[in-house]
Amino acid sequence: MRIVDLDPSDEAARRRCAELLVAGFREMSPGHWGEVSDGLEEIEECLDLGPVKVAIDDGTIAGWVGVRPSYAKVWELHPLVVDPALHRRGIGRALVDDICAVAASHGALTVTLGTDDEPGWTSLAGLDLYPDPIAQLAKIEDVRGHPFVFYLKCGFSVTGVTPDANGFGKPDIHMSKRVSGP
Ligand SMILES: CC(C)(COP(=O)(O)OP(=O)(O)OC[C@H]1O[C@@H](n2cnc3c(N)ncnc32)[C@H](O)[C@@H]1OP(=O)(O)O)[C@@H](O)C(=O)NCCC(=O)NCCS
Repeated sequence: MRIVDLDPSDEAARRRCAELLVAGFREMSPGHWGEVSDGLEEIEECLDLGPVKVAIDDGTIAGWVGVRPSYAKVWELHPLVVDPALHRRGIGRALVDDICAVAASHGALTVTLGTDDEPGWTSLAGLDLYPDPIAQLAKIEDVRGHPFVFYLKCGFSVTGVTPDANGFGKPDIHMSKRVSGP
């Protein structure tokens, strides 16, 4: 497996990335990238805003990740997806490590991201997080393989929450990782 830049002129590669978004987020965020055309729009935006890296496995794109500037010294990872048939083989971690190094090479101190809990895969699901969302967040637990655990394993820390981001009791969990020294 190797990680390379997505060639913006490679239409087939862009389509494969769009298909991965649709397949990869079907359970996690149903409706977010419902059609390949939605995925193609996302890739267009990612290529406009920052670097996009793809993991090539056996000659095929197995996953991809984008990153973009967000604050002066903070870049946002968005999105990340691995072919559902190839999960738990280290591809996601390799993409995260690569894109964090890319952000650091552009001067980022931190890479941040949001990981939604739309399907109810964490203990925050269905809760009214007010009046103290941080207290609720401090008790977060995985219920059904939510990717925040994957990001913890990649060295990210839970740094915040947006209550009701996707409807009542469907929060967005914020995570960050230091990628270069102060
Ligand atoms: C999240 C995702 C990118 C992980 O990719 P992956 O290639 O399967 O992850 P890796 O194999 O590199 O896993 C690295 C570590 O995280 C663990 N891990 C991966 N997914 C996990 C999950 N959902 N829950 C708990 N742990 C997980 C792995 O077991 C591995 O642990 P280890 O270091 O103890 O061996 C992939 O599941 C995916 O594309 N999901 C759908 C889209 C998505 O959720 N994207 C992120 C949302 S913002």
